[in-house]
Amino acid sequence: MLGAAGFSLTQLISCAPTSSVYKTTITNGDLNVPLNLFETSSLQIVRPAGWYYDVAVQKNDDNSYTALLLQCTHQENQLTPTGTGYHCSLHGSDFDKQGNVRKGPAEQPLHHFETSISSGTLNIHINSFKP
Ligand code: FES
Repeated sequence: MLGAAGFSLTQLISCAPTSSVYKTTITNGDLNVPLNLFETSSLQIVRPAGWYYDVAVQKNDDNSYTALLLQCTHQENQLTPTGTGYHCSLHGSDFDKQGNVRKGPAEQPLHHFETSISSGTLNIHINSFKP
């Protein structure tokens, strides 16, 4: 019994998402993310201090960036990255990497934040937005 439980735990750990979370604060209305983080992965999950929801930042093939609030537009559940987009475990909505609805019940796309680059840093413009 114990052996079986240990095997199951190992399986669960090996299946867990491996993306790390970059924790930061909002400074002058921006989240600032070092661009060199994207050298290891084109997707970074950013957690603003004091927010329940994370922000997913995708580096696109054309070197632009897409910053999305990981809050389901159906009933506000936190979304999880899937590799091809984002999934809501509450009622099953799926969103693509650009935040568009692929599968409902959600009907609205995810909230986008504008971005800019300065001095090796991606600036995600939060301004006064609060989820
Ligand atoms: S809250 Fe996400 S599908 Fe319902």
